[in-house]
Amino acid sequence: MLPADTIETRLLSPDAAGIAQAAALLRAGRLVAFPTETVYGLGADARDAGAVAAIYAAKCRPSFNPLIAHVADIDAARREGRFDADALRLADAFWPGPLTLVVPADPASRIVDLARAGLESVALRVPDHPVALDLLRAADRPIVAPSANRSGRISPTSARHVMEELAGRIDAILDDGPTTVGLESTIVSCLGEPVLLRCGGVSVEAIEACLGRRLAAASQGPVVAPGMLASHYAPDAPVRLAAAAALPHEGVLDFGGILAGQGAGPYLDLSASGDLIEAAANLFAHLRRLDGTAAGIAVAPIPRTGIGLAINDRLARAAAPRPSAGR
Ligand code: TXA
Ligand code: MG
Repeated sequence: MLPADTIETRLLSPDAAGIAQAAALLRAGRLVAFPTETVYGLGADARDAGAVAAIYAAKCRPSFNPLIAHVADIDAARREGRFDADALRLADAFWPGPLTLVVPADPASRIVDLARAGLESVALRVPDHPVALDLLRAADRPIVAPSANRSGRISPTSARHVMEELAGRIDAILDDGPTTVGLESTIVSCLGEPVLLRCGGVSVEAIEACLGRRLAAASQGPVVAPGMLASHYAPDAPVRLAAAAALPHEGVLDFGGILAGQGAGPYLDLSASGDLIEAAANLFAHLRRLDGTAAGIAVAPIPRTGIGLAINDRLARAAAPRPSAGR
């Protein structure tokens, strides 16, 4: 059932007063969206089962998937999970940053079962964003935060996107402008030999260079991350990938200007200069804008190197056939 959209959602400024208000709301078990370097997260106290349950209701998440617990530093992370040598090496190299590590939960961790979906493991991340870090320090507890969008929809990279998705369902949004990385964190499971669960803001190449060996790819396991579902990050307009040309009714999502002048619809270039980092930062906002204005979206081919792998991954999910309900 949809929750009633009746709460007044306040926009908070990212100054000391706004952060203090946001932290007080989180400590009181309320939901607050906040910026990270990847996408805006929908935060709740990870130790409060009611607050965690409210996240699922606000997002209309169809099932209880495990959430990422955000903490301010590696010491806080090590109070929640057990880090082996590989996990420590990755945390040292990439935190704060767009990397999530799945590690065995520490028996003393008070992160509620619902946040971990009953698993023995916990996903932890130290975001590289000054407002997020100040908020985590002020809240002084792990904060679970999935992307602040309704389930199955495009992740928000600005406070305005969060408003579009969740106004009336959450208490507040800390607004610090657009996010810089623009797509979600890379997730690596360190429950044994490290396994890549989701490509994202840290490239696979960088992780393999840090570990000194190749990452195993996720086969199948008990947990399928929502970001691993075939149709995810889905705009309403159909998406056509690696387009050599645009059809008349289509808007264009270009890369490096190769589809310039094509199609009669709206045109946006992820990066006119062909810069993959810039393209990642623009991806979700551009998809959202085209979705609002075009009947279909033709997407230019995008190289599969570095963060280009994560861009292609998100686009493939945006283009996948949609389940008829429940996404
Ligand atoms: O960049 C990000 O990671 C953003 C920002 C807000 O930090 N968060 C985010 O959260 O993308 P979410 O909930 O949309 O994705 C979290 C992913 C899910 O795919 C979930 O299944 C996986 O992490 N996950 C969480 N705990 C896990 C666990 N114990 N084992 C395996 N996967 C886990
Ligand atoms: Mg998400």
